[in-house]
Amino acid sequence: WYKTQENMLLVISMQGGKCRNQSSLVRLTGTKYSCGGGGCGACTVMVSRYNSTTKAIHHYPATACLVPICSLYGAAVTTVEGVGSIKTRIHPVQERLAKCHGTQCGFCSPGMVMSIYTLLRNHPEPAPEQITKALGVERNLCHCTGYRPIVESGKTFCVESTVCELKGSGKCCMDQEDGSLVNRWEKMCTKLYDEDEFQPLDPSQEPIFPPELIRMAEDPNKRRLTFQGERTTWITPATLNDLLELKANFPKAPLVMGNTELGPSIKFKNEFHPVFISPLGLPELHFVNTTDDAQLNDALHFIVSEQPKEKTKTYRALLKHLRTLAGAQIRNMATLGGHVVSRPNFSDLNPILAAGNAAINLISKEGQRQIPLNGPFLERSPEADLKSEEIVSSVYIPYSTQWHFVFGLRMAQRQENAFAIVNAGMSVKFEDGTNTIKKLQMFYGSVGPTTVSASQTCKQLIGRQWDDQMLSDACRWVLDEIYIPPAAEGGMVEYRRTLIISLLFKFYLKVRRGLNQMDPQKFPDIPEKFMSALEDFPIETPQGIQMFQCVDPHQPPQDPVGHPVMHQSAIKHTTGEAVYIDDMPCIDQELFLAPITSTRAHAKIISIDISEALALPGVVDVITAEDVPGDNNYQGEIFYAQNEVICVGQIVGTVAADTYAHAREAAKKVKIAYEDIEPRIITIEQALKHNSFLFDEKKIEQGNVEQAFKYVDQIIEGEVHVEGQEHFYMETSSILALPKEEDKEMVLHLGTQYPTRVQEYVAAALNVPRNRIACRMKRTGGAFGGKVAKPAVLGAVSAVAANKTGRPIRFILERGDDMLITAGRHPLLGKYKIGFMNNGVIKAADVEYYVNGGCTPDESEMVVEFIVLKSENAYYIPNFRCRGRACKTNLPSNTAFRGFGFPQGTVVVEAYITAVASQCNLPPEEVKEINMYKRISKTAFKQTFNPEPLRRCWKECLEKSSFYTRKLAAEEFNKKNYWKKRGLAIVPMKFCIGIPTAYYNQAATLVHIYLDGSVLVTHGGCELGQGLYTKMIQVRSRSFEPMKYIHISYEPWLPKNACQTLMARLHPIIRKNPKGKWEDWIAKAFEKSISLSATGYFKGYQTNMDWEKGEGNAYPYYVYGAACSEVEVNCLTGAHKLLRTDIFMDAAFSINPALDIGQVEGAFIQGMGFYTIEELKYSPEGVLYSRSPDDYKIPTVTEIPEEFYVTLVRSQNPIGLGEAGMFLGSSVLFAIYDAVAAARRERGLAKTFVLSSPATPEMIRMTCVDQFTDMERLFSKEKGSPGHVSYSIFFCVSYSERRQRETESVFKCLDSFNNLDCPEPNP
Ligand SMILES: Cc1cc2nc3c(=O)[nH]c(=O)nc-3n(C[C@H](O)[C@H](O)[C@H](O)COP(=O)(O)OP(=O)(O)OC[C@H]3O[C@@H](n4cnc5c(N)ncnc54)[C@H](O)[C@@H]3O)c2cc1C
Ligand code: FES
Ligand code: FES
Repeated sequence: WYKTQENMLLVISMQGGKCRNQSSLVRLTGTKYSCGGGGCGACTVMVSRYNSTTKAIHHYPATACLVPICSLYGAAVTTVEGVGSIKTRIHPVQERLAKCHGTQCGFCSPGMVMSIYTLLRNHPEPAPEQITKALGVERNLCHCTGYRPIVESGKTFCVESTVCELKGSGKCCMDQEDGSLVNRWEKMCTKLYDEDEFQPLDPSQEPIFPPELIRMAEDPNKRRLTFQGERTTWITPATLNDLLELKANFPKAPLVMGNTELGPSIKFKNEFHPVFISPLGLPELHFVNTTDDAQLNDALHFIVSEQPKEKTKTYRALLKHLRTLAGAQIRNMATLGGHVVSRPNFSDLNPILAAGNAAINLISKEGQRQIPLNGPFLERSPEADLKSEEIVSSVYIPYSTQWHFVFGLRMAQRQENAFAIVNAGMSVKFEDGTNTIKKLQMFYGSVGPTTVSASQTCKQLIGRQWDDQMLSDACRWVLDEIYIPPAAEGGMVEYRRTLIISLLFKFYLKVRRGLNQMDPQKFPDIPEKFMSALEDFPIETPQGIQMFQCVDPHQPPQDPVGHPVMHQSAIKHTTGEAVYIDDMPCIDQELFLAPITSTRAHAKIISIDISEALALPGVVDVITAEDVPGDNNYQGEIFYAQNEVICVGQIVGTVAADTYAHAREAAKKVKIAYEDIEPRIITIEQALKHNSFLFDEKKIEQGNVEQAFKYVDQIIEGEVHVEGQEHFYMETSSILALPKEEDKEMVLHLGTQYPTRVQEYVAAALNVPRNRIACRMKRTGGAFGGKVAKPAVLGAVSAVAANKTGRPIRFILERGDDMLITAGRHPLLGKYKIGFMNNGVIKAADVEYYVNGGCTPDESEMVVEFIVLKSENAYYIPNFRCRGRACKTNLPSNTAFRGFGFPQGTVVVEAYITAVASQCNLPPEEVKEINMYKRISKTAFKQTFNPEPLRRCWKECLEKSSFYTRKLAAEEFNKKNYWKKRGLAIVPMKFCIGIPTAYYNQAATLVHIYLDGSVLVTHGGCELGQGLYTKMIQVRSRSFEPMKYIHISYEPWLPKNACQTLMARLHPIIRKNPKGKWEDWIAKAFEKSISLSATGYFKGYQTNMDWEKGEGNAYPYYVYGAACSEVEVNCLTGAHKLLRTDIFMDAAFSINPALDIGQVEGAFIQGMGFYTIEELKYSPEGVLYSRSPDDYKIPTVTEIPEEFYVTLVRSQNPIGLGEAGMFLGSSVLFAIYDAVAAARRERGLAKTFVLSSPATPEMIRMTCVDQFTDMERLFSKEKGSPGHVSYSIFFCVSYSERRQRETESVFKCLDSFNNLDCPEPNP
């Protein structure tokens, strides 16, 4: 209960979790905080409101991070704690998400639960599409699972279960007794969970809406509410007149409606308002004049269903775009008024409203007036602005008429939940019964600072016929009228300009289709081949099957090994009871830390002025390099910048304050004077020019490469750029540093993959022995390599602050800071020269790799070593040379990331194989097969291995995916469709596991058996969501008794030998009493003074690598796999859709197939994101622009394969699957390449072309060269445009330059030679 001036405000819960305010009354930590800007869904809660007019209770999901607490007056808010708990009763949504293996790290799980729960409160028996929509379209991000199991858990609530019968107790078509679908010698299972175990959903058991809130809502005597905060006042007017009065008194005060525009501006752009007016509850602002329902979406649907089609064209266009506008949480909060008034240049609705002749009705104390939206208002002309005391009372959207067409068009990086790259609202009115243009309107978004009208073009076209000549003129004129300068914000200039006319073409086709439908005799239809250009990709509910080896029927029933056991913490994840760092209660005297980061890439620090920051309320101290008592530069990693900065985002200082808000405010006030230092090196190319490297070159070589090049038929040379990747773990880097009273001890609670390194760095920074530093790591909300090295630096930064202030320090990085400071996967430039025979046999390869390591060593050397050692992938090339080097640049230091360079390096291999295939006029899969390892062989660094599982995965994948049949079908599809093309690709994988340095592979454990029989296992592994503890418990319980006895402690590979030692000690007791219970044996052992503790130690695999010789037994073992993907590409926009993926992964004997499949799927989807839509954008000055889920797009539910088949193939290998699957995502990249190649063949273009990674929509569109890209290029040339330098430094050549290069020399074919002397491809 919160007190207001005269009323009580009932709040069931608020944005849980953040312990950012010492006086926080409600300590509900289930709700998670991950981005703070409404972009990830981790903080989803359910808001319920009572509508006193309709007498209905409306439940909707909302992103808590954008909900001002004061706006919740009269609302009931349900967080995950209100849904169910381990302490009381878990809810079926929580149970099913957990049991269907829908959680890994668990950080997204409360948000997922809340989205599904809210859906079920409104629709207890949802359709499958509603589940997909509830999760994908509602912007719930998960970077671990790959979404398939999450969707599946939701689908279990559908009346007609679309979950394959095999998931429950039923029979499945794939579950064949004879196992003929996979290996005839082993029985395959498909059942990952048992639906019979699920509790039924009983809607009558849900909490009721609080009656006092109903009474409050029905109270006719509404009064003005005022909330007074530290710096701001919030006023909720009681009536419309009251609102107008307030607006007259506080003309500068914003109206807070959904707060989805205002909130991010305040949080991220430093906007400040002393007074807010919140008229959210006023019925006058929530009334749609055809229905009683205030929701725009419902109202539009209602009108569309009630009115004839010809009248509702604008409404339908709005509805289409409403589906893709943000997530449902945002849409539920945001208002049309707020949207129109804030006039964002990316607005999806304003261009349609303008094209549909809509207008806004304004009201103030002075009276009322109307502003048309197709005038200067949307262009932000000052004379057309709202007066400060005016408010928008409604938006008038007129009906369309018979010979009138209105459409909304849009292209975004991701199909759903992404701001448009370019959008448009277009309408045309014809003279009745003709195709003569009477009125034409075209409005574009994201092409300038406001919504832009192509009014001149439209005017010139009046009176013209709707024909091809008109289209051609329209394209030229519109390009002339809407000019995007080369350095325009948002980059992608050539692409955006191409989209302007591509979308116009789409509009042209749609209208021609419409005219034909009205009078087929008079207006011919568009060519059949063009039909596919009309529609966007449909959103399908994903489906698929997962197969794994069944356990031996003779295995004892209590032995859990090999069974798909649920993640040990899954239920705690879904109830929000799993504790992450920021969920830990506030500690007395605790301070919050906010970082002060460098804004220059390379500069001398002239001065740091902290006086203003220190003077702010709550600020306790500002910490800089001077405060580091020990090493500030340890092993090349700098904790606090000293004298100079070497990248944008380097930590120069931190502010410690009583609240995070105070610390953040103060951090902004620290003034740093810099003097730039040359050179500033940002790109790999710049580093090569300056000879700037972090380490010496790493090289392996076999055969005689130079000699071999003399005897091949053809040689090609090329370059492949692979961009970096952001880890985007859902829990940002989080540390709680607790200084102890005595002996300079300090305890750090943090999420890390490498606690030892944290301890080492902190001890170095504080100049204390390592035994004074304890690191506690229970779990972390995702890591993916990002928490290997970085926590050590951030730990040292926090420890120095704790040491200086003598107080506990809570250091939780905001998403934007985390993305800026901690960097990610190394961008890579691969240069290759390949010699091959006309039959596709590769004889020689000379490959160079350069990675952008950033400004400090971090893990770059190991990344380069891994790239070089793994660079042959699955292929034997008799004469092979590979060199790799890490470039030193002025970017934040790149670090470990799932696959450790393999996903980047191997793309280069697949790229040159594909290029060879193209040169030989052979299908890529044939060239892959020809060159693939076939029998026991030696790698290029002379380690012996057996590729039998690789061959098996490859063969199974080709066969079971019906690769050849589908390839023919795709060719047929491509013949019939000009603007959409399908492509298929299959990639093989040989992935080495482990580390060439033997001592890295060691592990230790400590096992205690307590007197009640319970077992505590303490070890050094880190639980990141991969289910390590779960597998350990499974393995341990084979040695001991049932799983219920075993608990895994904090610092947890669990070598078996500790348990074996204990069992050997217990053996005599068990022998004497074989029928006894575990507890009896333990009690007896104690009586006999048998030690019940043991340590286990695993020396590790004895790996080695001699870099002088380029030889070694570098890896303990290999994991093999193959993946086949099929995509459809929209050549007109650059969008793509993943239709199907089949993965065959060698999993040896899987300890837990559910966890292993989870790792394979999760890694595949993460890889797919890396190779397609995830794009980091830097300025040429080294400033990272992509710092939130709004500008960095990881896959959502809508990107995953429509059909997804995963099979774990059994082999003799030991196993570790977490990283390997990442590279299989490149099958999507090469499928896109195949589709684009089909488009280019049809257009008569060069068959070889550069398609680097990621294959973004921009890349796809601009590579599918056609009349529109040509027109744009010609036009830019005429305009004298120098060509745009992309935002993204790793693609700093413009497309026109690239195209030119492409035709010049990227693939340089030399004369053929007759090969006589080169050895055969396989030994
Ligand atoms: C995560 C996220 C994703 C998004 N994705 C998209 C997208 O894909 N496409 C897209 O087009 N948009 C997108 N948006 C923007 C969103 O549509 C707008 O933020 C939203 O419509 C603004 O409405 P609101 O009610 O929240 O406005 P508020 O934030 O409450 O107010 C915005 C401004 O409008 C003024 N205002 C509000 N109502 C009135 C009124 N009645 N009269 C006068 N002034 C008023 C306020 O004073 C304030 O200045 C996204 C936003 C977020 C946060
Ligand atoms: S934390 Fe609220 S949406 Fe990401
Ligand atoms: S389980 Fe979804 S982000 Fe980790």
